[in-house]
Amino acid sequence: MSSPSSSGPGVRPAAYRFRCIGCGDLSETASQNFRCPQCKDLLEITYPQAKESSFDPTKLKSTWRNRRLSSTPIDQSGVWRFRDLLPALPSEGQAITLREGNTPLYELPQCARITGVPRLLAKHQGLNPTGSFKDAGMTVAATFARLAGFRWVACASTGNTSASMAAYAARGGLRSLVLVPDGRISWSKLSQALDYGAVTCQLRTDFDGCLRLLQELVLRAPVYQLNSINPFRLEGQKTLALELLEQLDWQPPDHIIVPGGNLGNSSAIGKALVEMRDLGLISRLPKLSIIQAEGANALVRTLREAAGKRLISVQAETQATAVRIGNPASWKKAVQVLQATGGACEQVSEIEIAQAKAEIGAEGIGCEPASAVTLAGLKKLVKLGLVKREESVVLILTGNLLKDPDFTLGFHRGDLFTGTPDETAGARLNPLRRPPVVLDATLDAVLGTLEQSEKS
Ligand code: F0G
Repeated sequence: MSSPSSSGPGVRPAAYRFRCIGCGDLSETASQNFRCPQCKDLLEITYPQAKESSFDPTKLKSTWRNRRLSSTPIDQSGVWRFRDLLPALPSEGQAITLREGNTPLYELPQCARITGVPRLLAKHQGLNPTGSFKDAGMTVAATFARLAGFRWVACASTGNTSASMAAYAARGGLRSLVLVPDGRISWSKLSQALDYGAVTCQLRTDFDGCLRLLQELVLRAPVYQLNSINPFRLEGQKTLALELLEQLDWQPPDHIIVPGGNLGNSSAIGKALVEMRDLGLISRLPKLSIIQAEGANALVRTLREAAGKRLISVQAETQATAVRIGNPASWKKAVQVLQATGGACEQVSEIEIAQAKAEIGAEGIGCEPASAVTLAGLKKLVKLGLVKREESVVLILTGNLLKDPDFTLGFHRGDLFTGTPDETAGARLNPLRRPPVVLDATLDAVLGTLEQSEKS
């Protein structure tokens, strides 16, 4: 069945070029490592005709809204619904989609009280098909991998990218190769890659070592890399921001706060915001702020110690394993986004992350530790006066609670910080813990527990 509204009046498919973020060179093709042949900077996708074409913001908005009533797979995808701002497909049936996107925007009343920012919302990208924000980028990049004729796709990952890539590859009839740091990603993410049929290599190195190896591999073997260096990934991830603004009736919030690891997501959201402003879809830019774990704070240090001019890599160490990244590939794009939107970059401690995760969980909204850096970061930004109490804030929750059950169990059992430098400080989070109790199977035992809990 075809959609009554799959293309709208005045809406054209997007013809794209690759542009180097360093020298601005435009090209129709990209090399396998997605770097500029001249200056070696990363490439991004650009739409040279977008500004002079007949993009009509009002018509676009109504086209996107109407597509939600359609029953075609491409319109049911919360990513491809916005395809007018994505690289054009030769035909609509070619998208590899799991109906990604369409994620909810929640109010966080308790966290609002804790932070003193009443207008606080969370967009939960962890409710995507494989449980993380990666799906929004993967549907686009996997589709273009298949269109380019590749049989194999590959990525280095802290877990979520590999889970997502493996799923989309399987849906699209592609083979997938996963490089992950041995023993340093959560087993639930690892199990997803296995279930979706990826060839999974656990390498005796960290994420940065896996990514380095992948860069060499793609120059030697006919595999298409699906890390966020791949600009098609970032085009898909842009739609998170389009969907968010649609949910807010195109009224920009004052702040959007996102975790920073390899810095692809922040780059994508920033690109979307600038494009939306340039096309007249929104009237002003929200500030996009990036929060890192203290133990994986390459961008924070790059800005503070090198004024954003050269990357300061770190040996990454954090229990938020998704962002255990010390040499972020998209750091330059992220610096540009911070400059364009006026956002801040901050770091938060392991204790602050664990506390924020428990506070979000207590709202009935589970997320993984890497996502909780956003709430911890917001508290810092409020303290620093960078977020005002009357301003509106959206946190981007990037992954699902079930992605990292070990962290959550460790926190509530009380052994998350055992043997770490935070062991003593961790005790101050005890009031937030809800450890399971083991009881005899008697009514009295359960009634006693109920009574005690009522009092606490
Ligand atoms: N949150 C989660 C849950 C993640 O999985 C990641 C990155 C980030 C935040 C950071 O996003 O890299 O775009 O700055 N995960 C990677 C992976 C890199 O391999 O799954 P980023």
